Formats: sequence, C-alpha cells, structure tokens
Amino acid sequence: MNLLSIDDLTPENIKNLLYIAREALFSSSRLRHKILATAFFEPSTRTKLSFHSAMIHLGGNVIDLPDSSSLKKGESEEDTIRTLSQYADCLVIRHPRDVKGLAKYSSVPVINAGDGSNEHPTQALLDLHTMAMMDKEVLKIMFTGDLYHSRTINSLVKAITKCCNAEFIFTNEINEDLKQYPHLMIDESEIPNYIDKVNVLYMTRPQVERHTDKLVTSNFILTNELVNKMAKDAIIMHPLPRTKELPPEIDTNHRAKYFDQVKNGLYMRMAILGWLI
Ligand code: CP
Repeated sequence: MNLLSIDDLTPENIKNLLYIAREALFSSSRLRHKILATAFFEPSTRTKLSFHSAMIHLGGNVIDLPDSSSLKKGESEEDTIRTLSQYADCLVIRHPRDVKGLAKYSSVPVINAGDGSNEHPTQALLDLHTMAMMDKEVLKIMFTGDLYHSRTINSLVKAITKCCNAEFIFTNEINEDLKQYPHLMIDESEIPNYIDKVNVLYMTRPQVERHTDKLVTSNFILTNELVNKMAKDAIIMHPLPRTKELPPEIDTNHRAKYFDQVKNGLYMRMAILGWLI
C-alpha cells in the first residue's frame, strides 16, 4: 500500500492514526531491521528530518538520496526510484510534479512527502492531529495565503471532510480541487470581520517558487492586533516554513501552535511508518 493522497485512506485509517499519535502507542523496536529511504527532489527541513527521526525512534534505519547521486550523471528519476526500492522497506518521496508516477517504479510502499501544488498527506494528518488535540466538537477554520498552490490545504481539507464536519473560511484564490468542498470564501480585507469567529487560523506562505503559472497576490500579514481579536482558545497554525505573513512577534502568543505542529509531525510520522511498514 502507498500513501500518495488522502484519497488512499479510509476515515477509519485516519482515526486510527490520530489515536496512535495521540496515545503515543509506539514501541522503540517496532521497525528494527527495517530501512527507510528518502528521496527529495525539492528542499525540505521538517518533512525529511521528522521521517528520519520517526524511523530512528522506532528502531529502524534511514538512507537518503544524496545530492551527489547518479542523477548528476544523467540517470533517470525512474531508475533512481527503482534502485532505492531494492535497498529499503519504504520510500518517502518529494517531487515538484509527480510522486504518483514515480511510485509505479517502486517495489516497496511509497509515501508522498509533497508533490508540487497537489498534495502533502502526512502534513494534513499531523495538522489534523494538532486540531484534534483541541477537543472541539465544532471547528471553524479560516485558511489564508497562497491557497491556489497550497498542497497542505488541499490535503487537509480532504482529510477533514473525510472524517468530521467542519466549516471553512477561505481567503483569496482557491484551486479546482478545493472547489468541491463546502466553503465560504472571503476577500483578505474581510479577515478582521471573521477572525473572532474562528477556532483555527491556518496560514500559508506565498509559494513564489510556483508562481510561474499564475499571479498570486496574497499580501496578508498577521498582527498582534488581529491575534488579540481571536477567541482565547483559538489557535494559529502554519505548516512552515514561514515568510513575512507570520512575524516572529506572534510566537509568544499562547494561540501560536506552529511549533507544536512540528513536534506533532514526528508523532504522526511514527504512527504512519509503524502502520505502513
Ligand atoms: N511543512 C513542510 O513540508 O516543511 P518542509 O518543507 O520543511 O518539509
């Protein structure tokens, strides 16, 4: 089985992963003698290193496709994946376009660590874990930033829609995939009118590296003035890395949960690896 999209998971799969992550049902020898291979064709800090850390916590080992790989000699990405799958029990792949296509060349399970603007399912699961920790029956979520290119929002909305009821508030542009979900879409200038009504403010950065196909004009920058309008028990989330939309002065506010998300990523990826391998 692969984890290429939230579509690969049933609601029961998602609930089980949330339960394992929340209860920390991990054994430090669960993946002893197992090897994880990571192949990142795009930059990453959190996703790659949390998978490495998760594998080590579970007693397994990690190999990583180096910058000095034979891709530099002209070897194809397909042959590279075929080769890695001879050495490992599971592959984690990030690619600017197509992880699904590459997964066909692997003889072991493949996890999508982000494929362009399409999906980032493990980020969605760790985000869901972070939201589930709020113990709220009703979530009102505002999504801001570069929605058109956000693979994290794309996967997260799919995941939430699959296993719970949620009301979404989106700002700015929205991609075709997201349009199928019930939502309320507002202009960024209206954020102050809604910010006191949401439980979750989920921010994303402008993904300038993907702005060749479409001009995106998200100029929203969070301020302490806006944060102080939010409900006391509301939270601010961001998949990180951040740019100017989320200034460091917000970090000390009790609503800032983006570094909790980073930690939750370790637990959720431990749950995913234990289940998939
Ligand atoms: N959130 C996320 O995917 O971060 P990285 O790009 O650092 O992996």
